Parts: sequence; structure tokens; C-alpha cells
Amino acid sequence: MRRAALALLAAMVAAAAAAATAEPAGQPAHFAPEEHIAARMLHEGDGQRAMQGAPAPAGSPRGGKGQQQGGGKQGGGGKGNSGPKIAAPLSKWIADTASNDGWLMMSFVVAWFAGPVAKTYRPARSPDHLTMQSPRHPLDRVRLGDVGAAGFAAPAVAELPDAAEAAAPSKAAAAEAAAAPAKDEHTQMQELLGGYIVGGMTCNLIFLGEKLGLYAGLKEHGPCIAADLAAALDLNERYVAEWLRQQASAKIVSTDAEAEQFWLTPAQADVLVNEYGPDSSPHFFAGMFSCIPAMSRMVEGRLVDCFKSGAGIGYDEIEPAVTCGVCRELGVWSRHALVPSLCALPGMRDQLETGCQVADVGCGCGEALMAVAAAFPNCTCTGYDIAEDALRVAREEAARRGLANISFVNPGLDDRGMPEQAFQLVMTHDAIHDMAHPQQVLESICKAVAPGGAYIVGDMSALDSHAENVHNHPLAPMLYGFSCHLCLPSGMSAPDGAALGTTGISERMMKEMLRAAGFRTAEVLPEFQHPLNRYYIATV
Ligand SMILES: C[S@@+](CC[C@H](N)C(=O)[O-])C[C@H]1O[C@@H](n2cnc3c(N)ncnc32)[C@H](O)[C@@H]1O
Repeated sequence: MRRAALALLAAMVAAAAAAATAEPAGQPAHFAPEEHIAARMLHEGDGQRAMQGAPAPAGSPRGGKGQQQGGGKQGGGGKGNSGPKIAAPLSKWIADTASNDGWLMMSFVVAWFAGPVAKTYRPARSPDHLTMQSPRHPLDRVRLGDVGAAGFAAPAVAELPDAAEAAAPSKAAAAEAAAAPAKDEHTQMQELLGGYIVGGMTCNLIFLGEKLGLYAGLKEHGPCIAADLAAALDLNERYVAEWLRQQASAKIVSTDAEAEQFWLTPAQADVLVNEYGPDSSPHFFAGMFSCIPAMSRMVEGRLVDCFKSGAGIGYDEIEPAVTCGVCRELGVWSRHALVPSLCALPGMRDQLETGCQVADVGCGCGEALMAVAAAFPNCTCTGYDIAEDALRVAREEAARRGLANISFVNPGLDDRGMPEQAFQLVMTHDAIHDMAHPQQVLESICKAVAPGGAYIVGDMSALDSHAENVHNHPLAPMLYGFSCHLCLPSGMSAPDGAALGTTGISERMMKEMLRAAGFRTAEVLPEFQHPLNRYYIATV
């Protein structure tokens, strides 16, 4: 069953890759990475609530020189303004093949997202280092063992000549591992937790790698030794050397047999560096790490109280680093696959090229709407969100891109709500389950769709029950993880909040909610293949 679920998701992702690589005419231009406001936040301060800051210094971000080299209750408090204003507003199965579950999980998630993903990574000695083999058919190709090989069984050394051979596990070692006695339950549990510790620390170090420009530096200067990378980035050599060793042992960056030179393969650069600009990749995956430290601050702070009191935390209250980190990650699909997916719908391209009113409810930092606005300049686009910090990023970024056909509204500050029968296309990406009053929002959206118009909504591809999610959804630990930090507190940020959580909307439930909101039809949209979301189209 797990394999079936994984294979199903892999098939979705492979199709997303195909969609992502088919950019139509009129795709938005690429943008300089260091100037993008959401990414820039990472380099300003520590992601604390102070994002209006001045632009980052030109060039690579700098972290400052280090020291000299040397050694139960439901529906509580909360602000309650989410929704109404619009309304009125892998481990176990992978663990069988290795002992480091946390890292395995992270490797899997990275491989899964990053590889349009349902492609098999194998150590190779080609100049491309890691060969990503296109699947004949994703269902044939994606096996759990492949995922394990991606993260663990594959040698840490990708390949300068002879390096892979030096680091490849010998047949004798493999036989020894196979003959090892079964581990007792205590040992298995300790190893499981140890893996999560590795995963947690590695998350922090990926954050540092992005923030300090280490990955970008490796892409530019690699293969290089620690001293050269440190000099190029004006960082302390000793710290950089230790970071490189951690990243190489975690198989995130490549190294030689002596662990002296370090570099990024093209695929590693896509996943770690190529977010914006001419190299912009649909495989980019490092953006989400920018929200991990801020999420940890939530755990130390308000979440403790939430767990005790049942209070919630709206997106309008959390650190912008969290909202924008999530939006950075979701933005990759929006930039690369949304417009091609829309254009696959009958008549949609003509309508958008002619020009019409488009809205995005729960637009966050606006990446999806900006993709539409840039591709279809005759459209007038309006984004709605209650998170003012995200809207500020959206407005600044839209201005920087010169998009005159887009505006953003905070329904928490603007009482007018959505105009009725005004929009030929309304979209919502990954936001309904976050809403405290999702049904009311859907009702407002239904009223706002013009006759003949459509509502396109993507939300988590959750299974039918929590039991199914827990036992069968390959990404359940990640989804429930996001839920505990963000989605559930957001859904409980009003006294009678729906508290759906990240996995709270199955296909059946979404269709029921859409019909209850007044939509005449509600169907799944197979044209929209997203690594996390299932998309629907509803008509009035
Ligand atoms: C996971 S983020 C997705 C953002 C964006 N759609 C994207 O794909 O990047 C969920 C968004 O829903 C917004 N949201 C939550 N409740 C809302 C409401 N009642 N009205 C409008 N936006 C809401 C949050 O502020 C947040 O920006």
C-alpha cells in the first residue's frame, strides 16, 4: 500500500516535471536571484519580523568574518480574522534499508521534490556526476530502494576520477551488513531518533549554506578547497571547512576521495542554488529551509501556549520568514508549471490572452498570480491574503518586475470583500486548509466568479482519512509536521476555527465543500500535476 501511494505520487511528480519543462510563450522573464525580495529576506537580519529593511548589499551575501582559525482543547483565542473578511473575509519503509531515518526522510523529500523527482539517482562516473535517469514509466521505476540509494547506499563521493570507486561500498561490506543480526527495538528507536537529530542539524546547516552564499559560492568556484571558498566569500576558513565536511558526509555537496575539494554537480546546483535568473530550475528546493529556524522559534514560543490553551496563530501573526519560506517553495511550481497547466485547459489560453479578471485568494507572496499577470498582460489580476508581510513582498516584487496589471488586497484591512460575479478566473493555491473559515471563504469565492467563469483550487493531496494518511501517505511526517507548526494553528486562529490541518481535505471532502459553497460542478483537474497538491476546477 505504501509503495502504491509512493508510486502514485511519483507519477504525479513526474508529470509535473513534464509540465514544468514545457514553458509556453509569454512565460515571465527570469529575475536576478539576489534581488528577489522573498529570497533577499534570508540575507537581511535573521528572518525576524523586520522585513522592510534596505536591499541587501550587491553581490553575494556575506555572513561576517568568523574567528581566527583554530581548532486538546479546540477553538481557543487567536485573532480570529482569518477567513471572515473574504467570507465577509518515510521513514519506516526506508528505514528497513538504512539506519538514519531523519536524513533518509529529508533525502527522500529532497529527491522527491527536486527530481521531478521520480527519477532514479545513481552514483555515476560521468562528468555529470549524478546521472538522473528518466523513468520509462514512473510506476515501473520508483522503488523505495532507489530512494534509499539516493540518500545512503550511494557513495558520498560523487566523482572526481577514481573517487567514486574509492568510496563505493565493497561487496564484502554489503554481505556483512546483510548478515548482521537483527537489531533490538531499543537500538532501532535510538537510531531512528539519531537520524532525526542529523536531519534537524542538517536543516540548520542548509539554512546557513543559503544565507551565507556557500552553495552559490560552490557553484561559482567549485571544485575548490575550503580556504578558497572561504576567501571568495570572506568567511572564516575553519568554519567553512567543517560545514563542507558535514554537507559532503550528508551527501548534499560533492567531494573527492581525500575530502579536500568540494563542488556541486549540475543537479545539486539546480536543487540548492538555481531559484531565479537564467538558470532558474523547476528542481529548486532549498527555499523552504529558510523558514526552519523561524519555525523552531515558534516551537519555543507561542506553540507551547497553543498546545495548552487551544489558541491559534494566524498567518498574519507569524514571522515573515515562515510565510515567505513556504511561499518560496511553493513558488517554484507556480513559476514553472502554473501557466502551462492553465493553457492545457480548453479555451483558457484564449480567454487569458484576450484579457479577463483573475483573482488569487490566499495568494501569499503572489508568485502564482505574478506568473499569470506576466504571461497575460491583458488580464487584470487581484491577490487576496490576510498576511500583510507576504503582501508587502508581493507588492514590491510585482513593482520590481514591472507588472502594472496586478494589485493585492488584505481583506483583513479592507472591508469591501470580493466583488460579486467579477472574476472569470479565481485561483487558490495551497491555502484553503489553512483557513479558519474555509467554507465561508469558498462561498464568497463562488459569488465572486462571473457566469461562465471557473474556480481552480489546489490543496494537499490528502487521503480519505487520517489513518490512511498516517499509514499510507509517503510524506505524512512532513505534512503533519507543517500542520503542527503552521496549518493547524492557522486553522484555529478564530474561536470557531475549522482546524483542518495540512491533511484535512481529502478529494471527497473538497468536492463536498465546493458544492456546499454553491458551485455547480467540482472535478479533479488532471492537467494540474503538483508535487503536493491535488487541483480541482469548479464552475458556477
Ligand atoms: C501555505 S500559504 C500559500 C500561499 C500561496 N498561495 C502560495 O502558493 O505560495 C497559505 C496562505 O493562505 C493565507 N490565508 C490564510 N487564511 C486566509 C484567509 N482567510 N483569507 C486569505 N488568505 C488566507 C495565508 O496568509 C497564507 O499566505
